[in-house]
Amino acid sequence: MLAERGHDVTTIDSHSLIRILETKATWNEWGYLDYGLIDPRIRSFNVPYQDTEDNLALDVVVSVSVIEHVPNSVRKAWIRKAYRQLVSGGALLLTVDTVPFSRQLWNFSEGKQVEDPGVHGTVDDLARDLSETGFVVDSVEHRDWLPLTKIGMARFKAHKPL
Ligand SMILES: C[S@@+](CC[C@H](N)C(=O)[O-])C[C@H]1O[C@@H](n2cnc3c(N)ncnc32)[C@H](O)[C@@H]1O
Repeated sequence: MLAERGHDVTTIDSHSLIRILETKATWNEWGYLDYGLIDPRIRSFNVPYQDTEDNLALDVVVSVSVIEHVPNSVRKAWIRKAYRQLVSGGALLLTVDTVPFSRQLWNFSEGKQVEDPGVHGTVDDLARDLSETGFVVDSVEHRDWLPLTKIGMARFKAHKPL
């Protein structure tokens, strides 16, 4: 949709499972898809986000339910990475799964606990990490449970000051 509107779009996913169009019926939200197979205007890279270049001059960095699946230390490094990659005024948009009826960040990655829950952190810890990195946090919305799911969800909108 973004590419159709004329934006340059790059996607990143480090998963070792490569999704192919022929097995679409078996896909779930885990795995690497080369979105260029669907729209040649999109570039996709099968690399860890922490290994991407710093000086990309991006207008927006978007992460949909990924940043909570990595350890706290990696999450902090990702926030610093996004800050360096954005232009001044650029936006960071995050959705983050949370443990139902709490403010704890979801602490599992493909069924395995990521780390001690006390280390993993909360919605408020993530907002503080953004501020401490230099982002202006424009909004944090949190629903402590999404009906028909096993999760809550927070949405963060932040920007790098001019
Ligand atoms: C819950 S899925 C969400 C995927 C997609 N955003 C969506 O909403 O369908 C989490 C994804 O994060 C990817 N991931 C985990 N660690 C990563 C890392 N260090 N760098 C890039 N992607 C990573 C996983 O491979 C997985 O495909």
